[in-house]
Amino acid sequence: MKERSEKWTAVDAYFTDLFKVSDDALEAALAANQAAGLPAIDVSPNQGKFLSMLARMSGARRILEIGTLGGYSTIWLARAVQEGGRVVTLELNPKHAEVARANLAHAGVAELVEIRVGPAIASLDALASENVEPFDFIFIDADKLNYPHYLAQSLALSRPGTVIVGDNVVRAGEIVNPASDDPNVPGVRVFSEMIARAPRLTATAIQTVGVKGYDGFAIAIVTS
Ligand code: SAH
Ligand code: DHB
Ligand code: MG
Repeated sequence: MKERSEKWTAVDAYFTDLFKVSDDALEAALAANQAAGLPAIDVSPNQGKFLSMLARMSGARRILEIGTLGGYSTIWLARAVQEGGRVVTLELNPKHAEVARANLAHAGVAELVEIRVGPAIASLDALASENVEPFDFIFIDADKLNYPHYLAQSLALSRPGTVIVGDNVVRAGEIVNPASDDPNVPGVRVFSEMIARAPRLTATAIQTVGVKGYDGFAIAIVTS
């Protein structure tokens, strides 16, 4: 297993380097996160670029992110928005939001991003009651136990064609182990089952390996 994960890391590093996936602003954000003591649970460079490309392929103008941390994935998403677009990102921890604000400013995307601080369930309710325009692309990456709530609330903020991506749905394969010790598993299992049952969604899941270990994304499109 160790040998395999070393290979995953080496291949990830190879493509990060070959395709010049990262840059100074992204590296500075990771350094600032570390200096501030934030957990290093951001998406990897290749995953961030993947999300950014997905958002761009979907022609997204309005992007919603649930779980900001230090804004590393937020920078990637902000870089994907079409002319006149913006990102709304939701974060519980004021300290994380403050670090993110600085990282977004340093990356030159602060004007494109609105950070809402507080429990995401409440922020999503607020967005719904404000009757905001539906989002084109939604990235769910906050506390895993609330993923089922975030999915239901995301659907209320969607239109046909909206892309919904959920991070961390594989958890080193523990997703297929209902008795898993990983406390995140029940949330992502119910989330995945909800996607399966939702008549308005068609979905797939992609397993990923690399510098962040073995995990994966669920990717759904709102069909009607
Ligand atoms: N998307 C980020 C990583 C997010 S980590 C990236 O890839 O760069 C998950 C974040 O969700 C943490 O910052 C955590 O504070 C936040 N979070 C946890 N519970 C939350 C809640 N109930 N509401 C909003 N954010 C929450
Ligand atoms: C954890 C959370 C994440 O969003 C992630 O990408 C990796 C790990 C965690 O809480 O352990
Ligand atoms: Mg994640």
